[in-house]
Amino acid sequence: MADLLRRARLVGDKLKAVFGDNGSEIDMVKAPGRVNLIGEHTDYNDGFVLPVAIDREIIMAAQPREDDEVHLYAVDLDATSSFKLENITKDTDAPWSNYIRGVLLLLGERGFPIRGMNAAFSGDVPLGAGLSSSAALEMASGLMAAVIGRFPIDRVELVKIAQAAENNFVGVNCGIMDQFISGLGKKDHALFLDCRSLDYQLVPLPPMDEYKIVIANTMVERGLVDSAYNERRRQCERGVELLREYLPGIQALRDVSGADFGRYRHHLPAVVAQRCEHVISENERVLESVRALRAEDVEEFGRLMGASHISLRDLYEVSCKELDIMVEVAQGAEGVLGARMTGAGFGGCTVNLVRAAVVDDFVALLKDAYGKKAGIEPEIYICQAEDGAKELKLK
Ligand code: GLA
Repeated sequence: MADLLRRARLVGDKLKAVFGDNGSEIDMVKAPGRVNLIGEHTDYNDGFVLPVAIDREIIMAAQPREDDEVHLYAVDLDATSSFKLENITKDTDAPWSNYIRGVLLLLGERGFPIRGMNAAFSGDVPLGAGLSSSAALEMASGLMAAVIGRFPIDRVELVKIAQAAENNFVGVNCGIMDQFISGLGKKDHALFLDCRSLDYQLVPLPPMDEYKIVIANTMVERGLVDSAYNERRRQCERGVELLREYLPGIQALRDVSGADFGRYRHHLPAVVAQRCEHVISENERVLESVRALRAEDVEEFGRLMGASHISLRDLYEVSCKELDIMVEVAQGAEGVLGARMTGAGFGGCTVNLVRAAVVDDFVALLKDAYGKKAGIEPEIYICQAEDGAKELKLK
């Protein structure tokens, strides 16, 4: 927390240095990135996910303006972008600003009294690594708009607005998991979310003095991710269309049981059947994971993480050589309960549950073995589960 406040002060200083101090109080918010423990490619199938908000976040500082202009400064990029609230369009020169523009546009369209502001932000969520830096920026912007505009907004509504901004304004067809966990995560807990009803439960994590969440960045940028992601979505929809002939009333793969799928899968083209099998079994694994964590059965949870990776690799085909190497090295290491790729895939990160007593040895081994096998130096982050987006009070 002390470090967070120190960094928040620095962002506030940058704000004043770049735009001048207009005398108003500086408002501060933070919104975290996330790592998904299990439940991959299930959110857009109305399924279940179990992510964690991590202690890496976007921090935003802002002062209100009397006019309807928004002036933005991205500290880490040393770049600015500005616009008027009455005419929010995309900025192709500053694509980072589109996450903020999209959220403000939608808030305005839905009647929230947004105001002009000067805002600066900075973060330590690695970009393009599959840890949801964009969702964090969206949630920080939405919360800041509410703080500056002094209006209340339901947190789940803000999450939906952020997702809609990413889908319709930025143009990325993501599900709701990333924005939801950035908005509603809780310290020391994973969040078990039903992506259809948006009901959620907080699930206590194994004690963090005994176990650590270790995120390993393959440093492979998630190439092709958009087109492959959209293709997977279409294949799942196709599966539902075809299965509906035998299972009338199903709306999404979420509604298909493993037993029913076994009965009718031979009616599907092979690739579509593979995609569906992943989603249906992954939903089941999330439910089992929640049971295992509640029963403090860490070994079983780790086993489910491993099974999830195999399914993503072989059935959903969204892993890549580097992610597989990272997982294989981890699974052979002492004190590792579970390891799997996390996020959309095709690069990005793995998530590992590791006994705290051996975590330093694990990090050293992973760096060395991955470096040798993949020829790339990885980045490793030992993470804590943190609270979702919130206002920061400096005093
Ligand atoms: C990306 C999307 C999420 C989710 C994951 C895969 O992170 O933004 O909505 O679909 O991929 O589980």
